Order: sequence, then structure tokens, then C-alpha cells
Amino acid sequence: MALQGVMDALKRTTLQEIGVSFSLSDIIKDIRISGDDVYIKIFSPSEKYYDYLREKIKSTLKPLGAKHIEVEFSQEPPVQRQTQPPPPPPPQNPFENRRRIPKVDKVILVASGKGGVGKSTVAVNIASALRRLGYNVGYLDADMYGPSGPTMFGAKDKKVIAKETPEGTKIIAPEAHGVKVMSIGFLLPSEDTPVIWRGPVLFKALTQFLFDIDWGEENLDFLVVDLPPGTGDIQITIGQTVEVDGAIIVTTPQDVALIDVKKGIQMFNEVQIPIIGVVENMSYFICPDSGKKYEIFGKSKTADVAKDYSTELLGQIPTDPKVAEFSDLGIPVVLAKEDSTVTQEFLSIARKLVEKLTRKGA
Ligand SMILES: Nc1ncnc2c1ncn2[C@@H]1O[C@H](COP(=O)(O)OP(=O)(O)O)[C@@H](O)[C@H]1O
Ligand SMILES: [Mg+2]
Repeated sequence: MALQGVMDALKRTTLQEIGVSFSLSDIIKDIRISGDDVYIKIFSPSEKYYDYLREKIKSTLKPLGAKHIEVEFSQEPPVQRQTQPPPPPPPQNPFENRRRIPKVDKVILVASGKGGVGKSTVAVNIASALRRLGYNVGYLDADMYGPSGPTMFGAKDKKVIAKETPEGTKIIAPEAHGVKVMSIGFLLPSEDTPVIWRGPVLFKALTQFLFDIDWGEENLDFLVVDLPPGTGDIQITIGQTVEVDGAIIVTTPQDVALIDVKKGIQMFNEVQIPIIGVVENMSYFICPDSGKKYEIFGKSKTADVAKDYSTELLGQIPTDPKVAEFSDLGIPVVLAKEDSTVTQEFLSIARKLVEKLTRKGA
């Protein structure tokens, strides 16, 4: 048996039964062929996939004439996949391969330097605020390391349906509170899926995934994409493959967080994505007893930094226990029947965003 033939067959496999969208060839650690005998070492993060993977390999290779098939497992992901950087951009114009996401008018990225600053909270509530302003809105949780958006929308257990179309398989985005919600987390079999599936292997699936979602009959006016934290390969790859209309950077007011804001702005400048502005979260706390405003992290310098980098502070969201409470309940605070400062602030940010993205006539 020829190695190429075996590799091609492994590449054509799908592992959809266990909820992942890559093939056996993506998780091979080692393969040796001697006559009709095949030895394969394959990556699996958990023993619970061993039987499935062994059978899948056998049913793929038997038709090719394989007699003796030996399968070994490794819990270490394939090395070259883990460290492989995205393909180097061609020197002339690294962005010429950018594609528009079908049926989406404006794509907005929500980024942050690190996790825990409230990026998902901001992304979910900006999407909800745009919805409240009457727009047709989608929210995509692309944070494979901690997809929490579906929980915040109460959409964690929504059924995701795939449908075959002339353009290939499309995944239909379920709706929650009037917003179309999709998450890279929906591709995972369950919440306790080992984090390693989420890393190197899913990264490859992500950019394709972005183009395979069916957002419904009508075009989306806005798609809000909740990016993984940081300024790494994923952000840059998205920047190079997707046509994006603008990015929002979420931060908290501490000085250390501002370093990440600068890094974020520089990264988006490098991939030529316009920056809509910076949203500061957990800016202050209003004591419910006295109504007094406390700037817990000191006086904010975010507005100055934003200005230094030719962008602006779009808004400041106070720390409010209601935000977390409603998130846990699965209703974004902006869509809950209450009218707090937080809600007003998100609506104001959404109005600015609409103004900025439509003013250019782009
Ligand atoms: N303005 C806020 N007031 C109170 N709690 C908040 C606020 N913003 C975020 N949180 C809470 O902080 C935690 C982290 O927020 P999250 O949006 O998940 O962060 P990230 O996506 O950056 O990791 C969540 O429990 C969330 O409910
Ligand atoms: Mg998050």
C-alpha cells in the first residue's frame, strides 16, 4: 500500500460523530506502512475516544487492502500542528485572500489583551444593544478556550442543525432573545471536552467555520465576533482571511491592562483592520446605599491612551453585580427588563458604533 493513498483516505474521513470537524489525518503522530501492514500512532486527548478512533481507522484502511492494522494512542497532540504558525502571507498583499462572510453586512471583532476583563460580557451586550436598536444581529463566540457567550444568551443547550446546500454543509445558527447565536463551542461534544481539542486542532477549523454558518433568511446587519483573548495567531489569521469592518478592544482601567490595549491596537493596525474604539469595563462602582461613585482601580487613563493611538474611548461600563447575575441567568443585561446605567452605557456604545460604521458609507 502506498503512503500517499493511505494519507488521502485518512484525510477524507470525518469525525463528526464525536463532534469535531477535522479528519484523522490531522491527528496522526506517526504512521508506518510495510506491505499491507499499517502502524498508526494517533492523538486522542482521552481514552473515551479510543474505540471510536480505532474502528474509524480500520474501516478506512481495510478497503484499501490493509491486513494488519496496529493503532497506538498518544495523549500528546501532534507537534507540528501545535507549533505550526499560520501560513506566511504572500509578500505583496497579505490581505488579498480576505473574504466576506456570506450574508453579513458588517463584521465587528471584539478583542482583549487577556481573559477575564469582560470581553464576552461586552460582546454579548453590544450585540444585544444593536438588537434593541432594531438591527438584525448575530453573535459568534470564537473564543475556543472559554466559549461563554452561549451561556450568557441562555443558548447553551440549543440544538445546532447542519444542512447540506449546494455550497457545502452549513450550520444553522439558533436564535436567543432575537439574536442569532453561534459558538465554536457548539462544535465540541460537551463542556468537559479536553481543552487540547480546543487548541491547535480547532484553530484550523475556526477560519473555515466562520464561512459555514447560515445566519438565516435575511442578511445580518451586524455580526459581533467574540475573539479569544490575546494578540496571537488566531487573531492574525482571522485578520488575514476575513473581511472585517472594525474592531473593539475591551479593557479594564488598570495601568497594566493599558499595555494590552496598545498591543491590541498595534495588532489591528498591522492587519489593517480599522479600530472602532476601546470599551472600558469595570470602570467604577456605584454604591447602591449612598449612590457614591468609587473608582476602584484609580483614575482611568484609557481615554488618553486611545487618543494617543488615534482612536477613542467608546464608553465606560461600571461594575454592577446585576451584569453577572443576568449573565448567569442567560439574559444579557441590556435585554433584561431593567434600565440601569450599564444598559444605558451599552446602548450609547452601540449607537456610536452604528454611527461610525455607517458614516463612512462603507
Ligand atoms: N461590568 C461588570 N460588572 C460585574 N460583573 C462583570 C462585569 N463584566 C464582567 N463581569 C463578570 O466577570 C466575569 C468575566 O467576564 P467575561 O465576560 O466572561 O470575561 P472574558 O470574556 O473577558 O473572559 C463574568 O463572571 C462576568 O459576569
Ligand atoms: Mg469570554
